[in-house]
Amino acid sequence: MTEMSLETAVRTRHSVRGFLPDRVPQETLDKVFDLARWAPSGTNIQPWQVYVASGEIRDNLRAQFMQRTRNNHPPSVDHKGTRGPLGEIWKTRRRECAAVLYDAMGVAWEDKPARAEVGFRNFELFDAPHVAFLCMDEVFGIGSAWDVGMYAQTLMLSMTAHGLASCAQGTMAHHPDLVREAFGLGSEVKVLFGLSFGFADPNMSVNNAHTARAELQETVTFKG
Ligand SMILES: Cc1cc2nc3c(=O)[nH]c(=O)nc-3n(C[C@H](O)[C@H](O)[C@H](O)COP(=O)(O)O)c2cc1C
Repeated sequence: MTEMSLETAVRTRHSVRGFLPDRVPQETLDKVFDLARWAPSGTNIQPWQVYVASGEIRDNLRAQFMQRTRNNHPPSVDHKGTRGPLGEIWKTRRRECAAVLYDAMGVAWEDKPARAEVGFRNFELFDAPHVAFLCMDEVFGIGSAWDVGMYAQTLMLSMTAHGLASCAQGTMAHHPDLVREAFGLGSEVKVLFGLSFGFADPNMSVNNAHTARAELQETVTFKG
């Protein structure tokens, strides 16, 4: 691993939505995922089950995701991302995130077909040669989803430190039956989200999209 400070890893990791076709050598994959397993979890239960699709299995899944999306096949997620209508503060942040993305790609908000194309890129895996599915058993609820989230950030930072780029994708949970079929999993394995990864394509303007963050005092309260 190249030496990288935690601050550099945290600040340079960002969602990449355009990848080169080159596969990551297995030796690097082993190192990246070996580091990520040191993420913390409640009572150290380590509920994450991670399935990484590469090569033919990735190609087939990608084709199936694209076909389902083109056919307007409705998503059937195992776990809903949100539980109700969002308040204005969160809607604003979501709109700002979309604006950064569309800006980087030169897509106007009014251009609905172009926006749909941007969304469709999710199902093309942004051309990433690998996609990881982050799953947990059906016995686990929200408390264990926290653990999987911690694993995911540890994994993405590990990727950054090893020179890899990634994009977490809730959209990769749209068709969990396809993931279970591809990996021969039982229905008790539930998909939370996916993560496309590989080497960033420096020529893709979308990779210049950099989101902002709410100010410290907006999200953290110090008292006493
Ligand atoms: C759990 C999760 C799900 C996400 N799902 C998607 C997705 O489906 N498609 C996408 O393009 N980005 C997705 N993102 C990326 C976010 O939009 C991104 O992390 C956020 O805008 C902050 O930008 P940054 O990652 O570049 O710092 C997801 C991120 C997370 C953590």
